[in-house]
Amino acid sequence: MTEAELRQKVAGLVAQFHKVRNAKQSFVPGTTPVRYAGRVFDEKELQAAVEASLDFWLTEGRFAEEFQSELAAKVGVEYALLTNSGSSANLLALTALTSPLLGDRRLKPGDEVITVAAGFPTTVNPIILNNLIPVFVDVDIPTYNIQVNQIEKALSPKTKAIFIAHTLGNPFNLDEVLGIAEKHGLFLIEDCCDALGSTYRRGAGGEPFGSFVGSFGQIATFSFYPAHHITLGEGGAVLTSDETLARIIRSLKDWGRDCYCGPGENNTCGRRFSGQYGNLPPGYDHKYVYSHIGYNLKATDVQAAIGVEQLKKLDSFCAARRRNFQLWKESFGKYEKYFLLPKATEGADPAWFAFPVTVRAEAGFSRTELTNHLNTHLIETRNLFGGNLLRQPAYLNIAHRQIGELPNTDCVMNDSFFLGTYPGLDKEQIDYTMDSIEQFICNTALKKK
Ligand SMILES: Cc1ncc(COP(=O)(O)O)c(C=O)c1O
Repeated sequence: MTEAELRQKVAGLVAQFHKVRNAKQSFVPGTTPVRYAGRVFDEKELQAAVEASLDFWLTEGRFAEEFQSELAAKVGVEYALLTNSGSSANLLALTALTSPLLGDRRLKPGDEVITVAAGFPTTVNPIILNNLIPVFVDVDIPTYNIQVNQIEKALSPKTKAIFIAHTLGNPFNLDEVLGIAEKHGLFLIEDCCDALGSTYRRGAGGEPFGSFVGSFGQIATFSFYPAHHITLGEGGAVLTSDETLARIIRSLKDWGRDCYCGPGENNTCGRRFSGQYGNLPPGYDHKYVYSHIGYNLKATDVQAAIGVEQLKKLDSFCAARRRNFQLWKESFGKYEKYFLLPKATEGADPAWFAFPVTVRAEAGFSRTELTNHLNTHLIETRNLFGGNLLRQPAYLNIAHRQIGELPNTDCVMNDSFFLGTYPGLDKEQIDYTMDSIEQFICNTALKKK
């Protein structure tokens, strides 16, 4: 048999294997866990992973090229660079702003970056790791995004950038944030790790359907960990339309090297042995010239191959997330007395990562009592990541500024949680969860009598 015939035969067997191993199980209330997130895939992802394994290229190759160009085209930017995680993407995005290639615009130690404490740690960590100062602004409930009217209070002569996430897929107010960034000459990094597929419509009377988040700021980051909108197992990406930033990010991602040859390529610049860099001797091999203090944050082609297939499903995944969000919202409607329900930012159409809920102070029960109850009924919930990062052990002594006492950030830490919206979830599981919540509320009310 030829190689092509063998590949075809293997692909056929993989499809059969998938049918046997991953046959859909029916949901048994109280026995089957209600997950908050998970991988959703079919035989195509398995076949792609095997196809890339048969190539045995292993590092980034043809599938990485394809994934990067499809992702950039989908989001509507020029460049997408694959990484091994969303956290790595965040590290690259922020570190890129410190590059000497940016001249006077580069961020220097002691410069300030505006962010929030109600979020995921690795949005904030790159700020600290680059010896910059995070400036924390409180969040709004129930959009769970930065309070835009507080941002200007956070400005100082040292403010150089805003680095915030579209919380749980809900775009922050891009009109306001971009307006402030433009007015004060700040970089904007959008952490879109939870928001692939969310859209935002700029300005009143703008285009009717909006643009994808990740196409607004100078740099955007994405995560492809299994909980996210598409998964590569582990994985992430940095997106930008700025050629210089793309070059810097590629360099930082690839050991800090100046050379931009793809894996296995040589002399793309045509000056491999004739350039002069730093204090190196003339003609020093460009492959080993380092213009940044870099890392190796590349992913593998097996991951990228899975990503190519996942990306084809993105629209249907996002539709399912929006449908599940709506189902939760309708089901929770009669319990508004107990819960603050989530709200999309005006002008946004979120592909919700989750359904966040805040237990009202007057509910008569706590967030933890409820999530504990749900947990014993095999219904997964999650807190809004780190709650208030400033109260986490690792952050107790970090250099920072904060605007006020961050009361809503504390409220998120104490009273908020989220349920899943991922495409693996459907009405049956949502109804079961709501029955369980109803039971909890009735029992709590009885106990109080
Ligand atoms: C907002 C946000 N940023 C960054 C990350 C980090 O992504 P990763 O887990 O791929 O490192 C996450 C992770 O879920 C996240 O939710």
